Amino acid sequence: MGTQESYEQQGRGTGRRALLGAAVLGAGGAVLGLSGTAVADARQGSGGLKSLPVPTIIGHRGASGYRPEHTLGSYQLALDLGADIVEAGDLVPTKDGHLVCRHEPEIGGTTDVANHPEFADRKTTKVLDGVNTTGWFTEDFTLAELKTLRATERIPANRPHNTLYNGRWEIPTFEEVLRWQEEQTRKRGKQVWIYPELKHPTYFRKLGLGLEERVAKLLRKYGKDRRNSPVILQSFEPTSIQRLNKLVDNPLVVLLSGATTRPWDFVETGDPRTVADLIKPQGLREIAGYAQGIGPTLDLIIPRDANGNLTTPTTLVADAHKVGLVLHPYTMRNENPFLPASFRKGTDADAYGDVFGVFKTYFATGIDGVFTDNPDTGVLAREDFVNS
Ligand code: G3P
Ligand code: CA
Repeated sequence: MGTQESYEQQGRGTGRRALLGAAVLGAGGAVLGLSGTAVADARQGSGGLKSLPVPTIIGHRGASGYRPEHTLGSYQLALDLGADIVEAGDLVPTKDGHLVCRHEPEIGGTTDVANHPEFADRKTTKVLDGVNTTGWFTEDFTLAELKTLRATERIPANRPHNTLYNGRWEIPTFEEVLRWQEEQTRKRGKQVWIYPELKHPTYFRKLGLGLEERVAKLLRKYGKDRRNSPVILQSFEPTSIQRLNKLVDNPLVVLLSGATTRPWDFVETGDPRTVADLIKPQGLREIAGYAQGIGPTLDLIIPRDANGNLTTPTTLVADAHKVGLVLHPYTMRNENPFLPASFRKGTDADAYGDVFGVFKTYFATGIDGVFTDNPDTGVLAREDFVNS
């Protein structure tokens, strides 16, 4: 479905750095010549979104390559490893209206809820954005109940070492993340950025648990609802971003899944357009009317062939830049199964392939940043790229 990324395989190619991102470089883009960790922070001017290094390294669900995703342990490590901004978190609501950090409402895959006999009768099957889904759902739990659970590794076959940390961290709330952000900013003497995503906004609104107002209320409470606030908001549903655009001034990003998919809000409202329509010049112009960026799946930038190899880059980077949108595609992962075929090394599902080669290929397209489960790899790849 359009709102869920599968663990798809990604990127290959060659290509040397030309410019650090074309689009918004413009007159003030004195980026070339910067090196190492200094990298490029000038491209989009100064202040707010423009103060982030480019290409921006975004810690996907924290540093989920090394720790169970969406835990304070994962977020903390992402900062320690050099992420410029942390996806903290994907947001879903509890029964009593609190926002918590989980990638989806179903929590059987990322917590120990199955080991809690007191919650056995909460297991159920629901239709989530058109898909029959069985498990335990955040909207059926109070926050107090969810806090008795502990996070676990989602993909132990690919990340067996991460299971060491199963049971260590609880599910964070968005409010805890905002406090953590402030605390980390103080401790590190450097502004910490976060990049929360609103998950399944139409689904939750129909349940009486609208996300946008709750997000806006918390951002206002912590003084982080402004254009220059260190918080970027993202969603796969354009109408959710439009709603946010009326509530807050934060930078906004529309996520884009595969070309043939339709955002779930479009399905619900009968809008026939697919992602392929949204990435045409007219669709991008429209998005630029209420958002500052797009977060496309990597395949929309360099499609893969039937064998899993990268093909020719599309014009999406240039087209989006033309209307002033930044591009933060998702998701780079180090392990073989997630890499384009020609970048894999051996066949082990938990072994790393030539991910530096993949980063290099994608950076060469002019993207403005990338979500990665392995922020340290991303930071090194950026250094290579900037210094090449
Ligand atoms: O938020 C960018 C990227 O995270 C979208 O994919 O499914 O991991 O939330 P997903
Ligand atoms: Ca996300």
